[in-house]
Amino acid sequence: MSGPAQLRAMPNILSRTLACTLACWAVGSATALAQGLDGVAREDDIVLPQYDASVLPPLGPGWRERNPYRDTDRTTGSVEIVTQGRRIFNQSCARCHGVDASGLGPAPDLRRIGLACRRVPEPELQARCEADADHHFLSSVRHGKVRVGITHMPPWEKALSQEAIWALRSFVEQAPATKR
Ligand code: HEC
Repeated sequence: MSGPAQLRAMPNILSRTLACTLACWAVGSATALAQGLDGVAREDDIVLPQYDASVLPPLGPGWRERNPYRDTDRTTGSVEIVTQGRRIFNQSCARCHGVDASGLGPAPDLRRIGLACRRVPEPELQARCEADADHHFLSSVRHGKVRVGITHMPPWEKALSQEAIWALRSFVEQAPATKR
């Protein structure tokens, strides 16, 4: 983690960590989580989104290595996938990552993931760079973010389909930069 967005998120994350370290020491982490310790992710942080799944091309079983919708976006300019990704994002993710992925929330700015790949001139290297970024995105979303026993982001694997997660990736990738 590096960069201004993460740095801004740090005090928040650190204060959560500290709060939980103290509270968990006193009452045990399970109780602390059940009581809804302020700022630490809980079960009810999982918000199931409403969106039109029928416009997302089905991907079948098995997790893809890279965003299968990326090329669709580029060649046909498939706005529908991005539109659904945005709907999902604003219902399930915006509370922590900022409305429209603005990064103006307690959690990191997701637009930064893989941004540097755009400047890689060599197509093969660029594809590998994007695949790395996709892998990081996918595994963060599927498994959530748990550090030293504290859940900073819940796992979304059971709540979102593979199609929904790649639609989110497509949306986040094209979400415009915001002036700060
Ligand atoms: C309850 C707050 C919360 C919600 C809701 C949430 N996240 Fe997060 N997310 C976080 C926090 C906090 C981190 C940073 C955790 C860390 O670094 O340990 C994070 C990290 C991530 C990362 C890795 C970021 C990086 O720079 O490495 C991705 C990707 C991500 N979230 C995607 C999503 C998506 C997609 C959704 C919606 C489906 C979502 N998150 C919903 C709090 C949340």
